[in-house]
Amino acid sequence: MDTKNFNNLETIELSSPASFYLDSDRFDQELQCVWFRNWIFAAHISDLPEIGDFLVSRIGDQEIIIVRTESGIRGYFNTCRHRGSALCAESVGHFHSGSIRCPYHHWTYSLEGELVQIPRLDETVSFSSSSYPLYSVATQVWEGCIFFNLAVEPLESLPAGVQPTASILRNWNVASLSVAHRFETTLDCNWKIIWENFLECYHCPGVHRELSSLVPIYQRTFMEPKDERDWDKRDDRSDPRFSGGMSEGNFSWTIDGQLHGERFPDLTEEEFDAGYVYAQHLPSMFIVGHPDYVRLVWFRPLSPTKTVFSCYWLLSQASLEKADLDLASIVDFGLKVIEEDARVCELNQRGLSSLPHLQGLLVPQEYDVLNFQKWVESQVQVGAVNVNRNSR
Ligand code: FES
Ligand SMILES: [Fe+2]
Repeated sequence: MDTKNFNNLETIELSSPASFYLDSDRFDQELQCVWFRNWIFAAHISDLPEIGDFLVSRIGDQEIIIVRTESGIRGYFNTCRHRGSALCAESVGHFHSGSIRCPYHHWTYSLEGELVQIPRLDETVSFSSSSYPLYSVATQVWEGCIFFNLAVEPLESLPAGVQPTASILRNWNVASLSVAHRFETTLDCNWKIIWENFLECYHCPGVHRELSSLVPIYQRTFMEPKDERDWDKRDDRSDPRFSGGMSEGNFSWTIDGQLHGERFPDLTEEEFDAGYVYAQHLPSMFIVGHPDYVRLVWFRPLSPTKTVFSCYWLLSQASLEKADLDLASIVDFGLKVIEEDARVCELNQRGLSSLPHLQGLLVPQEYDVLNFQKWVESQVQVGAVNVNRNSR
């Protein structure tokens, strides 16, 4: 019996209906069934170095405060138990005096979320403040990456959702790195468009000229050797056009293909030679280990047609202390690829509104787009997750 041993599809498949990228009911459904169920990336641990440091992460119309406390990293809905005012007006900052004070009537909470002060409440009024803590949100940290989960009872642990494995970037020691450069923009496209673009290289030769010359297999519209039929029977498997990896004389995803940060000391020869090692966590982030830096990309859906896109470039202390560090060579290369992808993502979204376009097609190289669409659909079919802290 013939067992298929390559990734690509053997037939043309239907893509998701165009309405899935446009319709606000569908968007709400995906928030409730996908984004509120799964662990969502919020920050790198170095974003919150001090106790009291916070940031606010937003998905749809939900805002989540992530704060460093004495007990670790805590998460709360950005809402006051009095009359529901947002507690944090800013998206990043520091809670002074070890407390979170509502800007409206000054109800005050400890960093652990307990209601500790209600100004000028008549002493004769009976009230149990311990029954009104902030609405807490589960948080977990993987490799220095802080995630939150809005479900009352998160279904799986964070590492279980990392693909291909939670240990694949272990030798990069991501938790010990610092953010050397941040980029954030709002793209005019649905969040799924960004994933679908990321999950295929059919667009690479036409859209990413420089990247495809650094990574020759991309010129052939393939992401990895096993995409092709008979990949194991080639006698030229060491050629990077077939094996994947970097082209001759290039080592990292930088403007000139050379290392600009210090090589991460714990990488194996294989990890170094690969030039790029990917991990992803649906639906909010992917992370790439290069020999001298780490790139972390994440998304937050705001509406059916708007998604916040962020990228961090993480470097080791040794790299940051290099007198001749050429950070621009690292960052500018990534920004170019981001611009190229952003352009086609927004074009894709624009075209989906055309009245006759009801549903697109997937070619064999787009097997992982199909996997992704099936994953989203399976989550939607399971239904909304319970996020109601008041239900008993
Ligand atoms: S709404 Fe927060 S103190 Fe009144
Ligand atoms: Fe791309």
